[in-house]
Order: sequence, then C-alpha cells, then structure tokens
Amino acid sequence: MHLFQYRNGELYAEGVPLRVLAKKYGTPLYVYSQGTLERHIKSYHTAFKGYPHIICFAVKANSNIAVLNLLGKNGAGADVVSGGELYRALKAGIPAKRIVYAGVGKTGDEIRYALKSKILMFNIESGDELAEINRIAGRMRLKAPIALRINPDIDPLTHPYISTGLKKYKFGIPMEEALECFKLAHGMKNIEVVGIHKHIGSQITEVTPFVDALRKILKLLDELTAHGLTIRYLDMGGGLGIPYNNEPTAQPRELAKQVLPLLKGRDLTLVVEPGRSITGNAGILLAKVLYLKKGPGKEFVIVDAGMNDLMRPSLYDAYHEVLPVKRSRRGKVVSDVVGPICESGDFIAKGRPLQKLQQGDLISVMSAGAYCFTMSSNYNARPKPAEVMVKGRRHFLIRQRETLSDLTRGETIPK
Ligand code: LLP
Repeated sequence: MHLFQYRNGELYAEGVPLRVLAKKYGTPLYVYSQGTLERHIKSYHTAFKGYPHIICFAVKANSNIAVLNLLGKNGAGADVVSGGELYRALKAGIPAKRIVYAGVGKTGDEIRYALKSKILMFNIESGDELAEINRIAGRMRLKAPIALRINPDIDPLTHPYISTGLKKYKFGIPMEEALECFKLAHGMKNIEVVGIHKHIGSQITEVTPFVDALRKILKLLDELTAHGLTIRYLDMGGGLGIPYNNEPTAQPRELAKQVLPLLKGRDLTLVVEPGRSITGNAGILLAKVLYLKKGPGKEFVIVDAGMNDLMRPSLYDAYHEVLPVKRSRRGKVVSDVVGPICESGDFIAKGRPLQKLQQGDLISVMSAGAYCFTMSSNYNARPKPAEVMVKGRRHFLIRQRETLSDLTRGETIPK
C-alpha cells in the first residue's frame, strides 16, 4: 500500500499534487510519502510483536538522513555496510545499539569507527575478517560483539544479481565451516559472539525460501548450543519483495506468521533487516517529458531523468511502472521512456503502452524509494536530483538538487 493516488485525474503524493512539487522543486525529483514509510515500518513491528525483535532498516535501500530519522523515531535500527552508511545512520539519530554492520570488505578504518561507536554487532563474512576484527579490538582494548553470517545455500528464486544465499556467491561463511568458525570466534580474546546472521537475497516474493533458510540456521543453532555456545541475536536478514507490476508479494505479517512458530521457546532477539519493503513503494521519481521522437513501431519519450538518476532498469532490466501525472483522453501508444544519457542502455521503461504524452508533461516512475537515489551517479556530469518528503499537505526539501559547482567539488588541476 502506498499513498500516491489519483484525484480528479491528477496524481498526488498524499495531499499534494505532484504538479505542485515539480513546479516548486524542479525535475527530476524524488518524492517520498511519510505516511507510507510509517505504515511500512509499523507493519513490521506489528507482525513481529510478541517476540523480542529489532527492525534494522537496510540503509543501502535509502540513506537520506530524513528517511532514516523518521524510521528511527518509529523504532527502527539500521543495517549498514560501510563506514559511510554508519555515519549516516548515526547522524540521523539512530542509536548505535540498534545498528548491525554487514559486508564482505570492511576496512580497518571502518572497523575502528564501528567499534568506537559501540554498535550492536558486526555481521562477519569470513575467517580473515574475524581475525582482523579481533586484532583491531585488541589494540583498542575492547571486545567486539559479532555475529557470523552463514550462507545457508538456499535459492531465493530472484534475479541472480540480488541473490546472495547460494554457495557460489561471495557472501557469508559456508554451512560446513560454520561450527568450527563459531568455536574459533568463541576462543578469541577480543571477540564476543552474540549472534548468527543470514541474508539470502532481495525482492523475494514468497515466504518459503526464508523458512527453508531459517530451518537450516536453527539446526546449526542447536548444534552450537550443544557445544555450549549461546547466541542472543538471530538476524534473519532482509529480502521481502514489493509489487512493481501488481505481482503478488508476501507481507511482513505472512513472513512473521511462518517464522515466529519456529522461534517459539527460544530465548533470542530476532533481528530483521528489511530495506525495499519499507521504502520501495514509499517513493517515486518525478520527471518531465523533454521531447518525443518516432521510432520503429514505437515512440521514444525522452525525459529529463536518466540511468544516472535511476539505474535499476538499465542494470537489472527491472520493471518500474510509469504513470502520467495528469490523465488525458489522448489514447495509448507503445513507448520507450528514455533519458538524456548517451547510452542505448539508458531507459526507464521499454515497449510500454502509455498514455500519449506531450512535451512538458510530467511522468511519475513508481516504486522508486529503494535502490534508486542510493544507486544514482553523476554520469555524464549530471547533478543529482533533489529529494522531497511529503506529509499530508506539507512538503519538505530533504536534499537539495546538486549544482554545477557540486560537480567539481574536491577536484584540482595540478600546477
Ligand atoms: N541485509 C543485507 C545483508 C543485505 O545485503 C540486503 C540487501 C538487505 C539486508 C536488504 O534487502 P531488502 O530487504 O532491501 O531486499 N540494488 C538491488 C538490491 C540489492 C540488495 C542488496 N542487499 C536492487 O536494486 O534491486
């Protein structure tokens, strides 16, 4: 559910016409709905209430500090994968004790920063990383709280680029090595083993892969207990999908309904790391039609947003619904919605029957609240778009549009 809806043929974000936002802030423009964000974070808390849990929002999905602050105020923690994401989460006011830190390539500086910040735990991805964290924590005279990320070798049935829980991918520690690695960690002087972690992939629309992976993890947990190793946090990762094209997707309550019975009687705190299912449908990208051009059997709709602003279609062939901000009776035409970037791969939508558009019309690229702004770039020296938060009839600029001088910030020409 989201709060981008038509009223009298015009698309609104909550109580504000998108037309008004385009006029005030310009395009391309990312627009987020506060009501939708709140609804989504609450749906996780409601689904898992009755069992101790922490919802650690995956910052990689959307790292604007206004978004993080809002989620934090609604009880969320953060799942971070870099020093930069940790900085953002802390700056947004998310308590360190609700922050978990994953990723296969944490640097020494990042590890020190996270240790100093006193995060909840590191989700460790390899034996080498474990040894490094032990060494650094020792130098800092600290004990590092850690979980081991286990690769449960489960196929999440999603796009290979966003699938992580199979053996062939770089993530986590293989199941067969897990027990030994836990024992090793337990024996390390500057390591405190507090958790077990898994994350099998993203845009997973069914509950079954989560349950299958969790069953494997719980079996391992029992083995650990038998060896006298107690675990406090079970981090089941993120990955729940969203409807991009009206496809059926499981909701947090369905996930919880199947997960919680498996945890019954176990003295654990469950950590969940949703990203996309919190912010995905809570954001849109607003763009303006610059030109129209006849192509073979289709029309090219050239808009002012390109793959640098929203790269999921170019990178994954991902589907994002495109809606006209103002509905008309002009009829439909098969269209490719393309950006200004000098690459054939620069498209937002391909072969779509879209309402016939005209120069100056506005379009809304839907489900653009996750992995869209965060994956944007300055390619073709294009300044990044602005971001706006809407709450009811009010709207707030939460990130300024970049200027031309931002583009060369930090660059120098040697004498
Ligand atoms: N936890 C870990 C350890 C992760 O690696 C991820 C996502 C998440 C949580 C959050 O997953 P979510 O709930 O958002 O599915 N750029 C791709 C998605 C990459 C996901 C990477 N990891 C896309 O645009 O589809």
